[in-house]
Amino acid sequence: MSKHLTVDDQKRAAAEAALEYVKPNMRLGLGTGSTAEHFVRALAPRVKAGLKVTTVATSERTAALARELGIAVGNLDDVRHLDMTVDGADEIGPNLVLIKGGGGALLREKIVAAASDRMIVIADAAKVVDTLGRFPLPVEIVPFAHLVTMERVADAAARAGCGQNLMRLRGGEAHPFKTDSGNYIADCSADAIPDPERLARMLEGIPGVVDHGLFLGLATAALVGTANGVSVIEPPRRE
Ligand code: A5P
Repeated sequence: MSKHLTVDDQKRAAAEAALEYVKPNMRLGLGTGSTAEHFVRALAPRVKAGLKVTTVATSERTAALARELGIAVGNLDDVRHLDMTVDGADEIGPNLVLIKGGGGALLREKIVAAASDRMIVIADAAKVVDTLGRFPLPVEIVPFAHLVTMERVADAAARAGCGQNLMRLRGGEAHPFKTDSGNYIADCSADAIPDPERLARMLEGIPGVVDHGLFLGLATAALVGTANGVSVIEPPRRE
C-alpha cells in the first residue's frame, strides 16, 4: 500500500536517493533550492564520517549551508570539471528538458551543470509535466534597460508559440530581486512552452538576456519522490 508523503517528504526522499550516486573522491556540484538543501543536509553526515568529496556550489546560499554543515566548498575555476551535479528543478518535461531558476540561481546552476559529466535532478512528483510552461520561466537579464529587454522576451515567447504571456520583474520595480551575479530576473508566465529549443534560441539572441531557465540536454537522470518510492527518469537512449 502506498503511504501519504508530503511534498517535502518527496523532496527529501529524492535527495537521499541521490546520495547513492555519490562515490569517494567525486567532484560534486551542489544545487540550489529546498530539494538541493535536503541533499546537502544528507551529504553532511557522510562527509563528517570521512567521505572525501570536492564540492562547488551553485549559489551563495548553498555554499553557506554546506560550510555551516562542515562541507568544504571550492571554486569551479580551481576544480574546472565536475563528475556530477545534484540539483532541483521547477519543472521536468519530456526528454528531461527542465525549467529552473525559481530560486534565482539559474545562471550559476547552468554553468555548474554544463561543467559536469552528469546532472542528477531531484524533485517531488508534481514537478513532472507533459508540457513545460505552467511554472513561469525565469529569465536572467541585466538591469540596464530591463523594461526594453522584458518586452523583447515577451515578443520572443509569443513568436515561439507560448500564447498569452505576462512578464513580471521578480521583486517588483521598487525592490528588484538581485541574483548572485547582480542581475534581475524576469519571470515569464505563458500558456505553455510547446517548443523549448526554439524559445531558448530566440532568448539567447536578445541583448540584455544573460541566460534563461530552460535546461536543454543537461540533465542525465531525474530522481522523483512519489508516494510509491523514488522513481528514476532517464532520457531515451540514442541509437
Ligand atoms: C533554483 O534557482 C532553482 O532552479 C531550484 O532548483 C528550483 O527552484 C527547485 O526548487 P525547490 O527544490 O525548492 O522546489
